[in-house]
Amino acid sequence: MKGITLLLVAVVILAGIIAFTAPASLHADDSTAPAFVTKLPPGYRDWKLISVSHEAGTLNSLSAILGNDVAIKAYREGKLPYPDGTIIAALHYGHDPSAENNKVFGRAQSFVPGPTTGIQFMVKDSTKYAATGGWGFATFKDGKPADAASMKSCFPCHSKAPASDLVFTHYAP
Ligand code: HEC
Repeated sequence: MKGITLLLVAVVILAGIIAFTAPASLHADDSTAPAFVTKLPPGYRDWKLISVSHEAGTLNSLSAILGNDVAIKAYREGKLPYPDGTIIAALHYGHDPSAENNKVFGRAQSFVPGPTTGIQFMVKDSTKYAATGGWGFATFKDGKPADAASMKSCFPCHSKAPASDLVFTHYAP
């Protein structure tokens, strides 16, 4: 009898542990901010060009904005909102004067991309990222995802472009 009671107690404790840890670990996954994409989308370096941009000031960057096939199709057809599966990449580089090119031009006028300063992505999944306008945001430096805290600014600023589905870059003619 004592043995059975002990067994029952053990089972109840075990069930309690399982019940407690299962939702706790699920919750932990949820709270690591689902809007942040932490896997580098494969093949992005071969995507098509949407546009280029230059930020002066402290950023002082040159950037290439690329899109996967879903993004390019939507851009060319002018379709909004962007469909699920759209991924837009922003490859950021330094903005470096080129002594090599300037020598050829005979004056200081040439700037070329410096070392990469980071890669950003916007991934459309209207279900998974419903809380952030259907977009998941990502930043990678040296192939590693940025910490979740630094990603909090993405959605609030991008939501200032509601007319273009939170995307700022226009298709370069
Ligand atoms: C203060 C506003 C602001 C914040 C914060 C911001 N962005 Fe942007 N983002 C812009 C603007 C404006 C552009 C277009 C100009 C450019 O390319 O430099 C842009 C461009 C982009 C693009 C290219 C697609 C597009 O919308 O034009 C991606 C991808 C991107 N940002 C990702 C991110 C990620 C990831 C974060 C968070 C780490 C972030 N952005 C934070 C303003 C912001």
